Amino acid sequence: MDKAQILVASNRGPVSYSVDDAGALTHRRGGGGLVSGLSAAAEHGDTLWVCAALSDADRTAAAQAPEGRIDRTTDLGGLRVTMIDVPQDVFDNAYTGIANSTLWFVQHMLYETPSKPVFDAAFQRRWEDYRAYNAAFAEALLTGSADNARVAVQDYHLALLPRMLRGRRPDLRIAHFSHTPWAPPEYFRMLPTGVRREVLEGMLGADHLGFLSARWADAFLRCCAEFLRAEVDMVRRTVEYGGRIIGVGVHPLGADAEGLRQRVAEPDVAERAAALRERVGDRRLIVRVDRTELSKNIVRGLESYRELLRTRPEWHGRVTHLAFAYPSRTDVPEYREYTEEVRRLAKEIGDEFGTADWTPLILEVQDDFPRSLAAFTMADVLLVNPVRDGMNLVAKEGPTVSRDGCALVLSTEAGAADELSDDALMVNPYDVTETAEALHTALTMPEAERSARCARLVERASALPPERWFTDQLRALG
Ligand code: G6P
Repeated sequence: MDKAQILVASNRGPVSYSVDDAGALTHRRGGGGLVSGLSAAAEHGDTLWVCAALSDADRTAAAQAPEGRIDRTTDLGGLRVTMIDVPQDVFDNAYTGIANSTLWFVQHMLYETPSKPVFDAAFQRRWEDYRAYNAAFAEALLTGSADNARVAVQDYHLALLPRMLRGRRPDLRIAHFSHTPWAPPEYFRMLPTGVRREVLEGMLGADHLGFLSARWADAFLRCCAEFLRAEVDMVRRTVEYGGRIIGVGVHPLGADAEGLRQRVAEPDVAERAAALRERVGDRRLIVRVDRTELSKNIVRGLESYRELLRTRPEWHGRVTHLAFAYPSRTDVPEYREYTEEVRRLAKEIGDEFGTADWTPLILEVQDDFPRSLAAFTMADVLLVNPVRDGMNLVAKEGPTVSRDGCALVLSTEAGAADELSDDALMVNPYDVTETAEALHTALTMPEAERSARCARLVERASALPPERWFTDQLRALG
């Protein structure tokens, strides 16, 4: 078996399998910046992507492939894929119990109730499974890697992996990239002492740690200083720990402008744009597109739109809000409740303002990427208001494919704010009144100003396209 020089490890991989009507296994290439960046980078060297089998069809595909390795999937530019199959309960505890219900909540500072989180014996069992799941990745990577190979580990699902790899194979050069924010020590400290140590030490097993924004990188450095008493240089962004010096870098992933423009030119996008136009007529459009995640702040976004309609009746009948939400993590109860709250509020807004010939708000909770792209091309205003977000690529992708140049209303708490704040209308995501006002300002912005701002947004949004974003990290490994 060939050993790879470049390896990627992430929970969700670049392909997913399903069974078609005839009972045959078919696969679909995943979307998103990571897949396009890595597929392009894969052309430079022999690359193996290790990911988890997420469905029964994935497990079948993994079982059929020699050593679980699905070789040379052609539409991935020669990338090889290995799917890890851990027992279902181990996976559920690691992915849903720890990664999504604990680490995600901490990094996004989303615990809001007085009785959550709880760290008890059940949590400890889940934590053991999280370790086992990280260890399964380590095995596959150790088997598949050539001497001195470079390994790029992705995200909070795999925080323990860098240290596990280093312990067994000091020749490997290891990077870890966090796609989420990082919580400051004042918040991170809520994790049990042993767990926060294990997370930080696990990540410090890498040679290079990447973050999307200086804010998150600096918060991580402060956590290392506080909880590990590590020697931290906040200016050069390094951590000295266990006799090694670990570099911390800021790599603000940009939009894949070329890929998006090609995708937008395909007929299914035009079809959906025509269907949307039919529904909304020539009204002005406020668009938002999110996963139904608690961090995305959809509820306050809808409240802002309601406040706009309440305080500025001149917009009645003249504007439509398209809110497209992709169902996400329906295994986590908080996500299900949140989605219900979004639906309830959307109905209230429809009941309060809708008339026989005007639907003020169209909410669709469904995964339809071409329709989202169609909405981006048509948007007058794009609303991106997360309470906290590692980057938020919608803020970069929307303007990139906007036909006439949209105005962007953007939360100060998104990583993308670092690059886009000069030309977006910035809002405090908790402030519904300020967001409603920003929507009005955006809707009334003179066309020339709007398109000039949008052109500058696009330039900044595509400054670090996925391919370069990835090669920068590999380069940081030497
Ligand atoms: C968001 C986050 C990423 C994370 C991903 C996982 O996009 O920004 O940090 O890796 O979710 O999503 P999943 O659907 O695989 O849980």
